[in-house]
Amino acid sequence: MTGEPPKASPTRSPTRSPKSPEQTAEQQEQAQIVAHQAETTIEAASFEDDGYGTDNESRGSTSISSSVRDYAFEHGRRYHNFRAGRYQFPNDDAEQEREDMKHAMIVNLCGGKLHYAPLDEPQNCLDIGTGTGIWAIDLGDEYPSAEVLGIDLSPIQPSWVPPNVKFMVDDAESPWLHPPNTFDFVHCRHMASSIKNWPKLLGEAYKKMQPGGWIELQELNFETQCDDNTMKDTYAVARLLSFVKEGLAVFGVDLLSMRKNAQLLRDAGFINIEEKIFKVPLGIWPKNKTMKTVGLYLRSSIYDGLQAITLGPFTRGLKWTLEEIEIFLIDVRRDLMDSSTHSYIPFHVVYGQKPQEPPATA
Ligand SMILES: C[S@@+](CC[C@H](N)C(=O)[O-])C[C@H]1O[C@@H](n2cnc3c(N)ncnc32)[C@H](O)[C@@H]1O
Repeated sequence: MTGEPPKASPTRSPTRSPKSPEQTAEQQEQAQIVAHQAETTIEAASFEDDGYGTDNESRGSTSISSSVRDYAFEHGRRYHNFRAGRYQFPNDDAEQEREDMKHAMIVNLCGGKLHYAPLDEPQNCLDIGTGTGIWAIDLGDEYPSAEVLGIDLSPIQPSWVPPNVKFMVDDAESPWLHPPNTFDFVHCRHMASSIKNWPKLLGEAYKKMQPGGWIELQELNFETQCDDNTMKDTYAVARLLSFVKEGLAVFGVDLLSMRKNAQLLRDAGFINIEEKIFKVPLGIWPKNKTMKTVGLYLRSSIYDGLQAITLGPFTRGLKWTLEEIEIFLIDVRRDLMDSSTHSYIPFHVVYGQKPQEPPATA
């Protein structure tokens, strides 16, 4: 990684996560119900519950930053310019809102938890592909004695951040210039659509981590699933994700690489690996209030982001025209808003530890 000073957007302040240090008994009970349903079966609401079938929420508007410095523009959307073309999705205000919404979705699903690795007073943390920096900022708040560094190709992080949080423009897939044994926690979330060479990246992380340090990978497994046969074979959202996967493959990115994350960590030398899989409902079909909110966030992040999600993979990768994309998206929008389909997308959390002692050589 080669560091460059960040040029943060001065106008944004991040959406904070909904966690609070002192949860009421009711909030704790809600969190337990959500955690249980996320790992087992999500209970669907009925029309009697709240008439979800008529819901028509989630229409975001697109606003594009007027800044023309340090960015590339294509089809009216703004992209990163440092190592241009490496990441296929925009970095403008609309996309940042979407990323913050995904953060809220995950912390709601995880009962406010930012990580599952059993950290004990971490001191030196790294967030790979930090995006808007919202997770790094929350981690800095949670561990005031830790230094948190967030790196990203885009200088889109806010400048008003806790004093223990820093951001840097950097390419995580370049050799890391940090000294060995630097980090005691490395975190990487929603990066399956970005990283081309996971073994190389995890090898760099291993070298630069302290013995006993933890690494955690959190990824959506981008294939829609369903437990009650309400998802038809023609479900357009499934086709959307499949085309995104195909389009990213043109750039050497495997969108479903995260299925191998536990093995990838093992291969890199990490031990004590644990994996947790949660169900993220797509839409407002769940009965539970928090699950419904999580589902609304996921649906909104896809619905409002359809242009952002498709432009790069479909036009650059699959060579579709804008008209072809728009026609295809008619079915996707319709199916996204259909709450009689009880679909969900799995969310995988995998963490592992760098051994205290180097492995014995034969
Ligand atoms: C989907 S966003 C995830 C943001 C953040 N991790 C989160 O969960 O909120 C992916 C981010 O990774 C960044 N990115 C992609 N490839 C990268 C690379 N090779 N090095 C550093 N950042 C990268 C993008 O610029 C983008 O901000």
